[in-house]
Amino acid sequence: IGRTALRTAAPLRSASRLFSSSASQNSAVAVLGASGGIGQPLSLLLKNDPLVTSLRLFDVRLAPGVAADISHVNTPAITTGYSPDGPEGGLEKALEGADIIVIPAGVPRKPGMTRDDLFNTNASIVRDLAKTAAKVAPKAHLLVISNPVNSTVPIVAEVFKKAGVYDPKRLFGVTTLDVTRASTFLSGIAGLKPSDVVVPVVGGHSGVTIVPLLSQAGPAAKSVQPGEQYEKLVHRIQFGGDEVVKAKDGAGSATLSMAYAGAVFANALMRAAKGESGVKECSYVESPLYKDQGATFFASPITLGAEGVKEIHPVGNVSAEEEKLLEAAIPELKKNIEKGVAWVAENP
Ligand code: NAD
Ligand code: LMR
Repeated sequence: IGRTALRTAAPLRSASRLFSSSASQNSAVAVLGASGGIGQPLSLLLKNDPLVTSLRLFDVRLAPGVAADISHVNTPAITTGYSPDGPEGGLEKALEGADIIVIPAGVPRKPGMTRDDLFNTNASIVRDLAKTAAKVAPKAHLLVISNPVNSTVPIVAEVFKKAGVYDPKRLFGVTTLDVTRASTFLSGIAGLKPSDVVVPVVGGHSGVTIVPLLSQAGPAAKSVQPGEQYEKLVHRIQFGGDEVVKAKDGAGSATLSMAYAGAVFANALMRAAKGESGVKECSYVESPLYKDQGATFFASPITLGAEGVKEIHPVGNVSAEEEKLLEAAIPELKKNIEKGVAWVAENP
């Protein structure tokens, strides 16, 4: 386990800087699954981001309607909707010239389901979208939201490898919602502004693979009592998704907070692409950190640059409790990754 210098590196960017822009150039962003629970608010937030000039909304249903609606918002991004057989052209047209492709397409959980229970449906949706992306926009940055993220990201990697266009620096599993939740829950306990509380969350995006590094959260970390309060907080961050699934009672999972988190991450990537230095976010990427234990993908703080991943930071100094959380996360992560890779091999 690497334990170097995370504490001395630049802090993760706080959410209060969302949508700040000092750049003159802008970006073409495609949202695949744009009519869904996440897709609609995410598209609205992207329309509100001054860095986006071209917003392409694709879905198997309703995308032209969603695009017509959002296009009336008086911000610069030119917004177009694409459906598989529409007059504007289908997915290929939506992806032409895209700098960023965000994928929230797929089914969400219902109470009693794990994210892995979505695998059978979402694996083929993500694979097919990735095939077209590899053909039409091989240099775009791909942001995968569709669950199970631990497996869908390796699936995209395999599709891109098969097409001969894989660049690990440009493929991201979006885990920003875990960081967002950790900040919200810990700042609530500490009585601090959420924007002042940044918790790196590493590992993956499901249950025990979600590892919050509360010991690295600065002064706020001291407000959590060891023992029951600490364990409850860790559990709440690891199972925050289940909290929303339960509250929505069969109507789906987190959509609005996910849209927010997705927009934060896309904005960070665009700022870095336009030359801002020191842009740092946690994300699930191909990573050397736990590769020797079979976790070839791993979420950790990443410095972003013009080409995507600029530097993967190690997990840094961790407490004994966090060490145990990591030990539980790695084998599960390895299993999830292998499942995705094996599935693409059998279902190319
Ligand atoms: P949803 O059912 O509301 O929306 C999904 C959308 O995808 C629908 O509009 C559907 O028509 C569209 N779709 C399905 N197949 C498609 C295809 N082949 N091409 C284009 N669009 C297609 O679901 P949601 O609540 O928006 O969730 C979407 C996914 O995001 C789920 O898998 C969910 O588990 C996941 N999710 C991930 C995170 C995360 O932190 N990474 C957070 C929340 C939800
Ligand atoms: C989340 O963390 O909210 C998402 O991954 C959706 C889910 O299934 O919990």
